[in-house]
Amino acid sequence: MDAMSMYQEQILDHYQNPRNHGTLDEPVTIRREEYNPLCGDRLVLEMRVVDDKVEAVRFRGHGCAISQAAMSMLSEEIVGKSVDELKQLQKQDVLDLLGIPLSPARLKCALLSLKAVKAGVYGVPQYDIDEDDE
Ligand code: FES
Repeated sequence: MDAMSMYQEQILDHYQNPRNHGTLDEPVTIRREEYNPLCGDRLVLEMRVVDDKVEAVRFRGHGCAISQAAMSMLSEEIVGKSVDELKQLQKQDVLDLLGIPLSPARLKCALLSLKAVKAGVYGVPQYDIDEDDE
C-alpha cells in the first residue's frame, strides 16, 4: 500500500471509528462549538484541564470525513499536552496528521478541529450551545 492510500485508510478509520467521541463527564473545563457555515457541519469539543494539562477530551458533531477524522486525530494528539502547547498548535500539525493534500474547501473542513481547540483555549466567547441541535 502506498503512503497516500495508507493515510486515506487512516482518515476513513477515524471517521468510522472516531476516537474520544462522545460527551465528557464533569468537570468540563473547556467546551467549544464550531461549525462550518458553508455546509453546516459542526463539532462540539470538550476538554478537562487539570494542573495545566489536558486530562481528557471528547467531541461530537457531524460532518464530512475530513472534519470528523481530523478532530478524532487531533483529540488523540492533545491529551497530555499543556494549554501553552495547545496554543502553539499550527495548521501544519493538523495537515501532517491527515497526511494528504487538501483543496482550499477541504482545508476548512480539516481546520474546524484546530479552530475548536484554539478558540477553546483562548476562551473566545460564543453563544450558548444548544445540546438538542445535533
Ligand atoms: Fe462540511 Fe467538510 S463539508 S466540514
